[in-house]
Amino acid sequence: MKNSGVDNKTELLLADHGYLPHKVSPTVDLFAEISRLKKEKNAIILAHYYQDADIQDIADFIGDSLGLAQQAEKTNADMIVFAGVHFMAETAKILNPSKKVVLPDLKAGCSLADSCPPQEFKKFKEQHPDHIVISYINCTANIKALSDIICTSSNAVKIVESVPKEQKIIFAPDKNLGRYIAKKTGRDMILWDGSCMVHEIFSEQKIVKLKNRHPNAKVIAHPECEEIVLQHADFIGSTTGLLKYTQTSSDKEFIVATESGIIHQMHKSSPDKTFIPAPPNNNCACNDCPHMKLNTLEKVYLCMQYELPELILKEELRQAAYKPLKRMLEISAAAGL
Ligand code: 13P
Ligand code: SF4
Repeated sequence: MKNSGVDNKTELLLADHGYLPHKVSPTVDLFAEISRLKKEKNAIILAHYYQDADIQDIADFIGDSLGLAQQAEKTNADMIVFAGVHFMAETAKILNPSKKVVLPDLKAGCSLADSCPPQEFKKFKEQHPDHIVISYINCTANIKALSDIICTSSNAVKIVESVPKEQKIIFAPDKNLGRYIAKKTGRDMILWDGSCMVHEIFSEQKIVKLKNRHPNAKVIAHPECEEIVLQHADFIGSTTGLLKYTQTSSDKEFIVATESGIIHQMHKSSPDKTFIPAPPNNNCACNDCPHMKLNTLEKVYLCMQYELPELILKEELRQAAYKPLKRMLEISAAAGL
């Protein structure tokens, strides 16, 4: 195959297994090839802020979960290349089913989405028949199909406030975001006991020590962090919210309590400012999301070249998951988000 950088034997194996290799000849100029494929296939690359810097740099749009869903819904491209995790690509397919949605690595999952198995959640929902379900977008299509409205970290307050005060609410699957939103809105919500492995790793003690060493630094945190960490935050927001805060703030130093990938955009837009990743409670680089970081530039190239792996969804499930997602987009648009 022209310019593929993959040998014939590998291509045969691919055909057998319907999957892609992870090796590309080092002579291939990945940036040039990805740009060529974008034009040739009328493809758009949507990337989350937690992707590697190279992937962010080749993307057509970089955003938080809400921004990415909005872009996926409105794109005219024939192929959406989703550089993020599975639930994000799935959301793109739910919103824009006539497009081919491919993702660099089918195994790029999410510990938060995994913490809410549909069968268990169905039973939980049945125990609270007078509650509606608001689910964080970080969940599977099956959970979306069991939900009334979806939210993201950037619109969760507006979504909860759009529901009448007397209406009882189940919030799933992230207990940390749920607790934070319950506090902000004054609503008493039943929370599903799920969480993100990356945002639960930050050490409160180490953040306090870091603050003492950098007294002028502002702590900025994602609401998926534990309450004890959020208590030290000067600003709490979605990835886009955190980025905007660093761009508009007159402060020069920030301790960043979210996945480290976002720091690439922070550096790019504010080269004169210092960004310190919040320390995890061990010695590894655990504020890298292992799922997000499964994607590489090579895999972006391969998935565009072979148009695999492709996100396929049963139409019945897609339609059921579409309703609460559409509701979210409508409420967000009405709120100017
Ligand atoms: P946002 O980018 O919507 O803030 O979500 C963060 C996240 O954890 C995505 O997996
Ligand atoms: Fe899921 Fe957390 Fe990774 Fe986001 S950072 S994809 S919530 S595991």
